[in-house]
Amino acid sequence: MTDLSKGAAWMAGDILPIGEAKMSVMDWGLTHSDVTYDVVPVWKGGFFRLDDYMDRFLESLSAMRLDPGLSRAQMVEALTDMMAASGLQDAYCAMVCARGVPLIPGSRDPRECGNHFYAWCVPYVHVIPFEVAEAGASALIPDSPRRIPQDSVNPRAKNYHWGDFTDGLFQAKEQGFNTVILLDHAGNVTEGPGFNVFAIKGDRVVTSGHGVLGGITRRTVLEMVAERGMTPEERPLPLEEFLEADEVFLSSSGGGVTPVVRVGYRVFGNGAPGPVASALRKTYFDWLVAPKFRTEIAYA
Ligand SMILES: Cc1ncc(COP(=O)(O)O)c(C=O)c1O
Repeated sequence: MTDLSKGAAWMAGDILPIGEAKMSVMDWGLTHSDVTYDVVPVWKGGFFRLDDYMDRFLESLSAMRLDPGLSRAQMVEALTDMMAASGLQDAYCAMVCARGVPLIPGSRDPRECGNHFYAWCVPYVHVIPFEVAEAGASALIPDSPRRIPQDSVNPRAKNYHWGDFTDGLFQAKEQGFNTVILLDHAGNVTEGPGFNVFAIKGDRVVTSGHGVLGGITRRTVLEMVAERGMTPEERPLPLEEFLEADEVFLSSSGGGVTPVVRVGYRVFGNGAPGPVASALRKTYFDWLVAPKFRTEIAYA
C-alpha cells in the first residue's frame, strides 16, 4: 500500500503521495501566482469549521474569476477522500484552484486558461513552532515593505502574492525575530505571513478591519472575545496604538492563537505571554474539538 503518512495530494480524481503531485511549468498558477487557495485544519480526525472555510474558498474563487470545474460538494468529497486515504489525524489540508495553462503558449488572455482544482495535505503546520508559541513569539515590524495595498491585490481572496511577506521574513529572520508583521501605507498594523494580528487594551480587543484576509481563526477569536464579555473592534490599528497595547497576539489556522511577547524593541508582559492571549490560546484548542464546529472524517 502507498505510504501517504508524509502527505497526500488529490489531482484530477487521483490520490497520490505528496511528493509525486505535479503540474505544468506553464500554469499561470506558477508563472503569475494566479491561484486562490484555502486551508482547513484537521484536528484529531475531524475538519474544523469546514463550511466556513468552503464559504471563503467559494468567495475567493468568484473574486478571482476562477472556475474549479467542480461543485462545492465534489470539492468537499475530494478533501474528505484525500484525508481519509492519508490517515493523517492532525493536518494542514489545502484546496487550490489555479488559472491553468493557456491554449496558446505565451497568451496574455486569462480567458484562454483551463482552470483546475487540486488539493493536498501534510501533517498539521504551526506557522509559529509550537514551543515558540507557548513561550511567546517575537515579531519585527519593518519600515518597508508595506503590505500590498488592497486596491492592488485583494487580500480577502486568499492568494499566493507573498513578495512583501518574503522580503519581510528575510529581514525578521536575519535580525533574530520569529516572524514579521507588515504595516499599510498609512502606518496601520495589517497582518503577517499566515496570520491576522490583534491588540488588547483593557477590555477592548482590536484587529484590522481592512487590507487583511478575513481569517477564520480571526473570526473564531472575535467570537471567543465576545463570549468572554470583552469588546471586539474591527478597525484600523495604528502602530503607535499597537505598541501601547497590554498584550498582542496572532491568529492562524496553523496553530490558533499565538501570544507575542516582543515586537522590535518593545517587550510585552515582561517577556511572558499575557493572561488574555494565553486564555484565548487554550480556548481555541478546546473549540477545535467542540462537536458544533466539527466534521468527522471516516478513515479508510
Ligand atoms: C495573509 C494571511 N492573513 C491571515 C491568515 C489567517 O487566516 P486563517 O485564520 O483563516 O488561517 C492567513 C492564513 O494563511 C494568511 O495567509
